[in-house]
Amino acid sequence: SNGTQKTPLTLAFEAVHGSLTDAIVVPEGYVAQVLVPWGTPLNDGDTWQADQPMTPERQAVSVGMHHDGMAGFALDADNASRRFVLALNNEYIDQEALWAPQDGPTNVESGKRPADESRTEINAHGVTMVEVEKDANGHWAHVPGSAYNRRLTSATVMDIAGPVAGSDYVKTQFSPSGMQTRGTNNNCGNGVTPWGTYIACEENWPDIFVNRGERFQDDARIGIPTDKSRYGWDTSAGDASEDNDEFGRFDITPRGEHAADDYRNEARSFGYQVEVDPYSDALAVKRTALGRFRHEGCWLGKLEAGQPVVYYSGHDSRNEYVYKYVSDALWNPADANRPGEEYDRLAIGSRYMDNGTLYVARFHADGSGEWLALTPDATTQDGRTLAVALGLADDDHAGIIINTCDAADFMGATPMDRPEWAAVDPTSGEVYLTLTNNTQRTAEETTPTFTNTGDDIEQLGVGYGTAPTNASNPRANNEAGHIIRWRESRLPNAFTWEVFVFGAAASDVDNHSGLSELNQFASPDGLWFDERGDGQGILWIQTDNGYGGLTEYTNDQLLAVVPNGLGDIQGTGPVVNNSNQQQLKRFAVGPNGSEVTGIFATPDKTALFINIQHPGNWPADGGALVQDATIAASGQVRPRAATVVIQKRDGGPVGV
Ligand code: FEO
Ligand code: CA
Ligand code: CA
Ligand code: CA
Repeated sequence: SNGTQKTPLTLAFEAVHGSLTDAIVVPEGYVAQVLVPWGTPLNDGDTWQADQPMTPERQAVSVGMHHDGMAGFALDADNASRRFVLALNNEYIDQEALWAPQDGPTNVESGKRPADESRTEINAHGVTMVEVEKDANGHWAHVPGSAYNRRLTSATVMDIAGPVAGSDYVKTQFSPSGMQTRGTNNNCGNGVTPWGTYIACEENWPDIFVNRGERFQDDARIGIPTDKSRYGWDTSAGDASEDNDEFGRFDITPRGEHAADDYRNEARSFGYQVEVDPYSDALAVKRTALGRFRHEGCWLGKLEAGQPVVYYSGHDSRNEYVYKYVSDALWNPADANRPGEEYDRLAIGSRYMDNGTLYVARFHADGSGEWLALTPDATTQDGRTLAVALGLADDDHAGIIINTCDAADFMGATPMDRPEWAAVDPTSGEVYLTLTNNTQRTAEETTPTFTNTGDDIEQLGVGYGTAPTNASNPRANNEAGHIIRWRESRLPNAFTWEVFVFGAAASDVDNHSGLSELNQFASPDGLWFDERGDGQGILWIQTDNGYGGLTEYTNDQLLAVVPNGLGDIQGTGPVVNNSNQQQLKRFAVGPNGSEVTGIFATPDKTALFINIQHPGNWPADGGALVQDATIAASGQVRPRAATVVIQKRDGGPVGV
């Protein structure tokens, strides 16, 4: 029986064709506008210049680089759709754009990087909070000097909470108590809590570090480099007689437990979900109970009074896993956000996010699935306790979290095709998850090479070798990716799943979902379900595409679909229900070189916010002014990642 009968929304826009230009393409009747591109000053009286040299001081008070996940936080309920705090992740940097028009970056490949270059790059990462508002003409602008404007960077002091806090794993010279750390890094997707906070998710952070010496199990498993760090910030440290701490902390090579330059535990304070209160300047908190890996995002499960608070998260690396966190505390609606009020939201966060159980997913071939608890006393596939398998003390919950990936290996989790974003249908609670691609998925029934015995430490890095196809990842060399969805079962720790859609070029022989010229896509990444208030919504799909079958045809894009409910799920696992794709339509295409990511809409759905990350030659005027982003660049511009607001010219709700 189908418990989620609804009359589907109709997508009322005309699907757009693929595009290969330095412009945003939107449907007829819509307009797109650039907002808060990288480098936009947050303070009053400062302006961006196209030939602006960036400095540590300037970058610390300007919008960070390479926008990714984001969310809006209303300042007052009556104006929630025209004025709010925009919280956005600044995932990584384009050094060429950052250092133009100066020489630089200096000595990235070898040698010592100038301290101010490292400081500038550190300050371009993290999270930007900025107040934005819409004027009477429908134009959006940020509010320079707003008390809500704030930056978190790779150097900002933060608290550590949950099982790892105060454990020996995270005691450092900076924080001998193991209760604090500095910086959040490579924040990709995001989360929003019902109590009004923002979650910035630490994804590809391991390579800001380097370990040239004896390796620990956890840093080998998660892929901390052994030769050089990505940006070389560690090389900005002075010699041993100087205070090395600011930059030396990125080199975690063990030099002796009590050596002044031993930073072995620094990386163990990364890899978490980071909770930020956008309404105050309280220290951000790393919520370690939700696991330690390359977190793509943090997606709230269906919220119900008197039930646990649930978060889903994927580990975006080839053949990594899907996780679910279930709080001990039961949701009390009295804890819901009170927009614009300043009070201790992070204390509420502590209630729901510091004590709970972390699970990892196993997908069965028959369309069922199970959640495997990652607790010290869980029984591994080979019949040991997880604590014993990992060589930990029986009650070492912190050790389980530090070694989340190994723990999941031992439990027999299903290796996935790079889990990126999830989206939860707020009515049914059904969860959608993008599996962006996996070129290391093999057809052969081989023993996965990523399997870790726990006895030998292997340098495996990003992409843990190869793994054979399985029911939920059924395509070998899956270059185009797919989207799966599941529904939690009434049985404990069980779920039912199916493939929702396979990415493909229309001409591909494995175009299993019957995609056409107007909706072919590959490498699904961003995903967001917009609740329309009457039990309906549009599922928005964004792409981050490296698949040659499509990049000759179109840049990355934004598509919309109104999914049928899972009421008709037959436990068929990988069998595709093509009726779900009848309304899959391309809504927008990004400029050359960019990825389309980060998405939410105003509560009234009249303004859809997306991010354009790593554009090659965009926006047209450098983004100095609010502009119509559909205007293509003429000549080379200094590229700037930016938020883009898409609105209907008639002011109505987007998509319908
Ligand atoms: Fe930063 Fe997995 O995308
Ligand atoms: Ca990205
Ligand atoms: Ca992503
Ligand atoms: Ca991606």
